Amino acid sequence: MEVIIVDNAEQVGRIAADKVIENLDGLVTPVLGLATGSSPLSLYAELARRSKEGLFDFSHALGFALDEYVGIDPEHPESYRNVIHRTVVEPLGMDPNRVRVPNGFADDLQAAADEYDEAIEAAGGVDVQILGIGSNGHIGFNEPFSSFSSRTRVEILTAQTREDNARFFNSLDEVPTHCMTQGLGTIMDSRVAVMVVTGEHKADAVAAMVEGPVSQVMPASILQFHPNCIVIVDDAAASKLKYADQFRAEYELKQQLEAKA
Ligand code: GLP
Repeated sequence: MEVIIVDNAEQVGRIAADKVIENLDGLVTPVLGLATGSSPLSLYAELARRSKEGLFDFSHALGFALDEYVGIDPEHPESYRNVIHRTVVEPLGMDPNRVRVPNGFADDLQAAADEYDEAIEAAGGVDVQILGIGSNGHIGFNEPFSSFSSRTRVEILTAQTREDNARFFNSLDEVPTHCMTQGLGTIMDSRVAVMVVTGEHKADAVAAMVEGPVSQVMPASILQFHPNCIVIVDDAAASKLKYADQFRAEYELKQQLEAKA
């Protein structure tokens, strides 16, 4: 796990965009794993800028979203299908027919979940998975005690997650109770994982994920086993990391070596 600490959200977005593009560049059909939430917004804004300037063409990329609410009206502006369309597909110039979101509206939810994993596999797997982290350490909607080998499935949202996400709805009652999410096993199959985190309210989760034991209590800690996971955080989100100085020094050294090469 590589940890990069920068000053602010704008820099998080810029460096994360470098990592995303570096790892998609040259692929005939790049496959991008997409996260919702506030954390990746600066990254999407930067990718949109580069797309508009002609620096990268996303029109031939495939996209797979991490998760979706179950039981939400599909036309609701906060259904992840709509959020992904509004914040990623349109601004990046992706082809809407090449971007999928788990089908939380299916009659047979588990069949839809199984089919989603099969579609990812048929696409050759996810090349770059973009991730945020929930304040309780969830990735996608894999809440604490999700199996580390889980695949796409229906999950129950914790009270904490429903409260965190109530800001997107008129009231807490409106927040769905269930979701369909890629599993931790599905996420771990991605070739590169790029996590973006900003803000002091995520500092405990970041410290536990990076420096704590790998434990089902902290689902994101499974990423310690990911072969190529890059975590990009601002100073506030890094404020509880005991090894922050070491991460800063390593990144600086890496940049100096890259500048010389
Ligand atoms: C959401 C999503 C996650 C996201 C997380 C953090 O509910 N399901 O994919 O990473 O919670 O969201 P935010 O970045 O808004 O804090």
